[in-house]
Amino acid sequence: MPQRRSGRVRDNDLGLGVGLRNTHFDHILAERPAVDWFEAISENFMDSGGRPRAVLHEIARHYPLVLHGVSLSIGSTDPIDRGYVRRLRRLADEVDARWVSDHLCWTGVLGINSHDLLPLPLNAEVLAHVTSRVHAVQDLLGRSLVLENPSTYLRFRDSDVSEPDFLRALCDATGCRLLLDVNNVYVSCYNAGTDPQAYLDAFPFDRVVQLHLAGHQHCGTHIVDTHDRPVSDAVWALFAQAWQRSGGAATLLEWDGDVPAFARVHAEVLRAKEFMAAVEGRSAQADAVASGPWARDAAADQVLSTPVDFLVPDVMGRSRLQSA
Ligand SMILES: [Fe+2]
Repeated sequence: MPQRRSGRVRDNDLGLGVGLRNTHFDHILAERPAVDWFEAISENFMDSGGRPRAVLHEIARHYPLVLHGVSLSIGSTDPIDRGYVRRLRRLADEVDARWVSDHLCWTGVLGINSHDLLPLPLNAEVLAHVTSRVHAVQDLLGRSLVLENPSTYLRFRDSDVSEPDFLRALCDATGCRLLLDVNNVYVSCYNAGTDPQAYLDAFPFDRVVQLHLAGHQHCGTHIVDTHDRPVSDAVWALFAQAWQRSGGAATLLEWDGDVPAFARVHAEVLRAKEFMAAVEGRSAQADAVASGPWARDAAADQVLSTPVDFLVPDVMGRSRLQSA
């Protein structure tokens, strides 16, 4: 397993991965592209015994795999679908999934699946509710769950805790870990008129095992999380910080609409290397200064993150950061 400059070896140090999409199956099987790892959408495989599952098994023989779900509905008031979780566990065991993730959201109620990742009000009552459900799911899965910050388009009047603080408390209570979607941070903050830099500053990076990147559609007054285009410059800037603060967490590109050829998707995630190298270069410079005769002053001046020098237009009528 790769070793970072800090000397730490982490189980989340998978490198740069690509979301597994069925349009790329033939290319991957035939060409075995030099991708570090893949993330598979759990629901695309857990109920299938046919070719998709056989393909996943074959890919698992050659690449590390992570399972990423969209139907756990951890925030719903419906009973936990124990059959779903058992089938998920079976698939995770079969392909030796490095971890299993889903979203901090609810997807349905009264047995109806909306197939949308719906936001939750963030407060103590919801935290207690989700905490008990994460415990139950982890017991059934036999492993800790990884939860992702969703993209959101509204805020609830009943929310009185920030998303980073909510996720930190959830991790403390359950031992679950986090998938930080950097694009979702940007989308949600823009739509809410809040500061993505402040979001990252408050985020519990010690719990992060994975980062997501994706493209979005900017509609002027709001942003839609479309996953159908390259990653924006503003999101890359946030990524550089998130990657550094997470200690080099596994990074994955999601591309779900107008999916181009595999090589194009792979090339997009490999752009991360530019930002990683810049971060490593700055850190090496800081180390060199810190070990010199001015070590004390340099250490005092060293900042962990790179300031995000963009401002987001205010969609809620208040002054905000704006996009680059
Ligand atoms: Fe994501």
